[in-house]
Amino acid sequence: MTSDQVKHSNRKRRITKADDTSKRRRRKRCCRETSMKMIRSPPVMFPLQRLYMSCLDVFKGVGTVPSPSDDQKLRRILDGMMPEDFGLPRNLQFFDPENSVVIYTSIYQCHNFSLYILFLPENAVIPLHNHPGMTVFSKLLVGKVHIKAYDLINPPSLSQQKLACLKVDNVFTAPCNTCVLYPTSGGNIHAFTAVTPCMILDVVGPSYSKKDGRDCSYYKEIPYIVSPCEEMTIPEEDGKCYQWLEEIEKPKESEMDRIEYLGPQIIEVAA
Ligand SMILES: [Fe+2]
Repeated sequence: MTSDQVKHSNRKRRITKADDTSKRRRRKRCCRETSMKMIRSPPVMFPLQRLYMSCLDVFKGVGTVPSPSDDQKLRRILDGMMPEDFGLPRNLQFFDPENSVVIYTSIYQCHNFSLYILFLPENAVIPLHNHPGMTVFSKLLVGKVHIKAYDLINPPSLSQQKLACLKVDNVFTAPCNTCVLYPTSGGNIHAFTAVTPCMILDVVGPSYSKKDGRDCSYYKEIPYIVSPCEEMTIPEEDGKCYQWLEEIEKPKESEMDRIEYLGPQIIEVAA
């Protein structure tokens, strides 16, 4: 090899070495940028996925009653939810005006919680029913609905008729904040009457389960009249309205039609 050839070869080696170093630097910078980007832009979850992830976090099974902070967390997500988050239009023209049957679609269900949407045609009724040991977040997505809700007075009577206190008796119009009922407060026994066609998202935890003693019972109201010789005393809550609630067979109006959920799909993760 001539001296010129040796010089050229050394220069080439230096150039190659310099190239490698600069490539390594570029790669390092690139990695740094990527990791910085990942820190700057966490993956954005779509609203339903965010709701599901929060439910996983909040509902831990039988006996779970969301803490005030968990309650706020779910309310914040639900308050901002819209029909579009489920691939549904705001316009509910698809209701058959001749049909007053309530329709529901199940978005997700596991032992700890269920997510579903109720579609009520105008004047449709979901009769007075309970949610034993359950917490229910109801978000009216579309329409106008009358909600009547009671809590049983403790200790519950062993007789067929149970004394209950009226907690809610109002018409709600979408968009409005989420209503929440708890196992023993907030109106655990409730009824819906659609003033206009409406759509309600329900988050229920834990899920109904007949074998675990969380079946749905239905009730009728019987006026509460205080007689002078009555032994039973009720808590002194002035201005409260009381009624007897008597458990009844499952009424015909409680039958619902089920439709398949075709909206965005939840990506399940390990609890
Ligand atoms: Fe309910």
